[in-house]
Amino acid sequence: MVSNDLLFSEQLLPCGKVVSNRLVKVAMYEHLSSILGGPPNKIHYALYSAWSEHNWGMIITGNVQISREHLSLGRDMVVPKILTDKTIQPFRKLARIIHGNQASDCLAIMQLSHAGRQSGNILGGRLPFVSPLAPSAVRFGQNKRDEGIISDVFHRLLFQTPKAMSSADIDNVVSEFVRGTLLALRSGFDGVQLHVAHGYLLAQFLSPKSNIRTDEYSHDSLLLLSRVVKAIRDVVPADFILGIKFNTGDYSVLEESEAKTAQEERALAHLRQVVAWRTIDFIEISGGDYENPEFMLSPSSVTSTKNARQAFFAQFSAKLMKALSSEFSSNDRPPLVLLTGGLRTPAHLYTALTAHHAHLLGVGRSSVLCPNLPTVLKHRQTVEGDLSSDLTPFRPEPDLCLLFSRRRPCEWIWRHVPKVRLIGAGVGMAWYAVMMRRLAGERKRWDNDGNSRKIEGHAQYFLEPDYSVGGLGAIIRMWMWVNAPELQQKQMTFLILLIIFCLVLYIHSGGYSSQLFL
Ligand SMILES: Cc1cc2nc3c(=O)[nH]c(=O)nc-3n(C[C@H](O)[C@H](O)[C@H](O)COP(=O)(O)O)c2cc1C
Repeated sequence: MVSNDLLFSEQLLPCGKVVSNRLVKVAMYEHLSSILGGPPNKIHYALYSAWSEHNWGMIITGNVQISREHLSLGRDMVVPKILTDKTIQPFRKLARIIHGNQASDCLAIMQLSHAGRQSGNILGGRLPFVSPLAPSAVRFGQNKRDEGIISDVFHRLLFQTPKAMSSADIDNVVSEFVRGTLLALRSGFDGVQLHVAHGYLLAQFLSPKSNIRTDEYSHDSLLLLSRVVKAIRDVVPADFILGIKFNTGDYSVLEESEAKTAQEERALAHLRQVVAWRTIDFIEISGGDYENPEFMLSPSSVTSTKNARQAFFAQFSAKLMKALSSEFSSNDRPPLVLLTGGLRTPAHLYTALTAHHAHLLGVGRSSVLCPNLPTVLKHRQTVEGDLSSDLTPFRPEPDLCLLFSRRRPCEWIWRHVPKVRLIGAGVGMAWYAVMMRRLAGERKRWDNDGNSRKIEGHAQYFLEPDYSVGGLGAIIRMWMWVNAPELQQKQMTFLILLIIFCLVLYIHSGGYSSQLFL
């Protein structure tokens, strides 16, 4: 019998702040900001309200991009170029919403990110043919020739060959991360998480497949990260939380090979160096990048492997936990390990804790299917007692083959599409992005109803995910969506600019008409 308190016990971070329980809603790009990036808006507020009233120990925002020219999928939240009361205000409101009511002690963390070479053509916020910045001029997808010609053409269309960063570019990125941190600090967030995973810029510097520089940033591949961490610590108070999301070197439970083991050892060696800085509060363990999106594995692929009770990256995080206990004395506070990926059942959660795979448990997709997960688990514990061997998923996963598989020629397309892994992961992301928007809509309607559906003190707008939306439907709904009020504002600006332009042209051509036409 495992103590129920295990899941809801407090955890102390090295900076002195306390996480009130082990359940963490991890970063998920929302696709809700204005086209080509912007601040959070009303739909973000509604979405985060849905999470914040359910006792998560920590809520991490979707990635907030530090560079407007290096977005991920085009509708990211972006750090404003200049921090003023006005530009900070929307982020302040977001932090307030995440903190919830006075009784809540949920920590609000802003994830800071730079997409580097994974910033797509045009969608990334640049004019066509303007290259993104990256450690070296190695195009994203260059290593994907084995996936065939469709994949190659797809990657070439979407991603340009990046420009290798000069030392001035690197200095600039360091100061952009500092600006992002100041935004978080001034808007009332408890801390930031640096995205050093999934093939984003900071991870690109760590990987030999994207970093082929010959300067000190290649000899010491952690140099950029260490500069960013130091620069951040120089400007924040001691109790400000600084976390990182780190890759296992693409290691997963699905494949074991010598190459993977070597990558894992390299990642562990990196992390030993990082923890020796004594400046990091938590380390989230994940894996994969856009070329090989292992972080988006479907749980069914994991439950079919040898251990249905383990999260995707549990073996690696267990090794990190061991390394931490040998490197820190009992008086020290080591960084907390946050394990994310594939935690779908109560048994997954309890195994991760009892087997010492992690201190904190990261929930991504299930936090969309089940935004009130902490409340539900607490309630079930009270009623049912020990949940530690319960292998029932919190909620069913969507079947994204739907719509594709039943109709021709969709069936043909679907059979070929998964070969481009990026598309496979993109379809999954699209489905969850659409469901996040739906969740925000439900939450807003519930607010407008005057919270009339409150039962036993808990919000009962409860999202029923729309499982009838298949892969194709999700892609269309994700990309065709526009935020109407925002569109009107943009259209007005565009119209006014067009009228001014026509007037100037008219006056100008009138003044010179004789010269022009005679
Ligand atoms: C729609 C969607 C958006 C995501 N956006 C981010 C992101 O902005 N930053 C990040 O670090 N991970 C992101 N992820 C990955 C998740 O944080 C998490 O690592 C992954 O979903 C595995 O956890 P899960 O099995 O609990 O979903 C995203 C995942 C999804 C489904």
